[in-house]
Amino acid sequence: MGSMAWRFSGRELEYVKEVLDSGFGSSTSGTMNQRLERAFAERFGVRYAVTFNSGTSTLHAALAAFGVGPGDEVIVPALTVISCASAVLFCNAVPVFADIDPETFELDPEDVARKITPRTKAVMPVALYGLAPDMEPIMLLAREHGLRVLEDCAQCVLGEYKGRLVGTIGDVASFSFENSKHLSTGDGGLILTDDEALATAIRKFSSLGFVNIGAGEGRVRLTKDMFQDPDFKRHDRFGWQYRLPEVCAAVGLAQLERVDYFVEMRRTMAQRYLDVIGDHPLLRPQRVPGGCVHSYYTFAARFEGGQRGIAWKEFREKYKEHGGDGIYAAWSLLYNEPVIKEARFYGKGCPTACPHYAGAFNVEAGQCPNAESVQPKLMQFTTNQAGEAECAQQAEAMRKTLDYFGT
Ligand SMILES: Cc1ncc(COP(=O)(O)O)c(C=O)c1O
Repeated sequence: MGSMAWRFSGRELEYVKEVLDSGFGSSTSGTMNQRLERAFAERFGVRYAVTFNSGTSTLHAALAAFGVGPGDEVIVPALTVISCASAVLFCNAVPVFADIDPETFELDPEDVARKITPRTKAVMPVALYGLAPDMEPIMLLAREHGLRVLEDCAQCVLGEYKGRLVGTIGDVASFSFENSKHLSTGDGGLILTDDEALATAIRKFSSLGFVNIGAGEGRVRLTKDMFQDPDFKRHDRFGWQYRLPEVCAAVGLAQLERVDYFVEMRRTMAQRYLDVIGDHPLLRPQRVPGGCVHSYYTFAARFEGGQRGIAWKEFREKYKEHGGDGIYAAWSLLYNEPVIKEARFYGKGCPTACPHYAGAFNVEAGQCPNAESVQPKLMQFTTNQAGEAECAQQAEAMRKTLDYFGT
C-alpha cells in the first residue's frame, strides 16, 4: 500500500482549524458534532443522528435504550466482531449466537427464528463486509415477536437492500468511523434512528445522562441561566461518557462530503477482483443477492483450495509474492474467543456468576455449523486502494496467484 494521505485530502484541515479557532469546545459546547449529525441524518433521510466515540459504544447505547437488561437475550451472528457480544454483556444480558448463510456470509433469518425464546429482546443483524443481511424476514420475525432490531452498519455505508439504504430499516443503526472503515475519524461512531424516544435515551446514555440533552441536541451549556444555579440538578438518567471529540467530528464532516467517492472506489476495486476471479474454482466470492447493492468494506471470498491440498497460508504467501497487499482472515467465531468461551461470569461453578446467565449462555461447538465451516476458509482482500495504479497492482496479484495455482 502507498500513502494513505489521499483519504484526508478534502476539507479536514479546514474544519479542524475551525474547531481550534473557535476555542476548541467539546461536543457539549461546540457545533461540529451537530453539523456532522445533521449532514449524516440528511444523507440517510433519517430524523436523528447521534455521534459517538466508537462503533462499539453505539451498540451499547442502542441496546441500553431498548431496555435490554439482566435475563434478556440478544441474537447476534456467530461471525462478527467481539463488540456485538460485549455490548450485550455490558447490558448484563446474554448474547445468543445465530448462524450465517454459507454463500452470503450474512445472518441467516431461519436460524434467527430458531434461536428466539421468550427472553429474546433484540436482534443485531450485521452488514458483514458491507453487504446487507436479508432484512425482510428479520423484520417480520421482529414484528411477530416484539423484538427490537439494531442494524450494525460499521462496515456498510451506502449499501442498499431492496431500494433502501442499509441502516434505515431497523429501529436503530450503528456506524463506525474507526480508521479502516469507509469514513474515518481515527476512531468514532454514529447512531441513526427515526424514533425520538430512542434518540433521546441514546444521546443521554452517551453523555452522562444530562437532563437538558434531547434527541436532536447534544450541547448542554446553551442556557447559562439554567446551570449557573446552585440548585440545578443536572442528571436524570445514568449515562457513560461516549462522546466524539470536536476535532474528530470535524474530520468526519469532511469525510462525509466525499462518501460517494470512497464507496465508489471500494466498489471499483471489488469489481476488478470479480472480473479476474470469474468462476475460478479456488475462490468463491461473497454472493450478492438480487436487490442488494454491496458497499465492499472489504472483498470477501471463500477459499476452496483445501480440497486440492492448497493451504490458506500458502495462497496468502503467493498473493503477497505477486505484489498483493496481504489477505485478512475472518474473526474467530464469537463463541470460540477465549473471553467468551472461558467466561467466568456465566455460571458453571463460578461463585460470582450472575444467576441470569446460568444455562442460557451457549458456547458449545456445533451450534452454528455454516459459520464453523466457512470461517476458516474466508479471505478478505483490501478495497481501499488510492487509485488506478494500486487497483491494477492488486488485480494483477490476484490474476498471477490464480494462474500460479492453475484451474
Ligand atoms: C461489524 C462491526 N461492528 C462493530 C465494530 C466496532 O467498531 P469500533 O471499532 O468503532 O468500535 C466493527 C469494527 O471494528 C465492526 O467491524
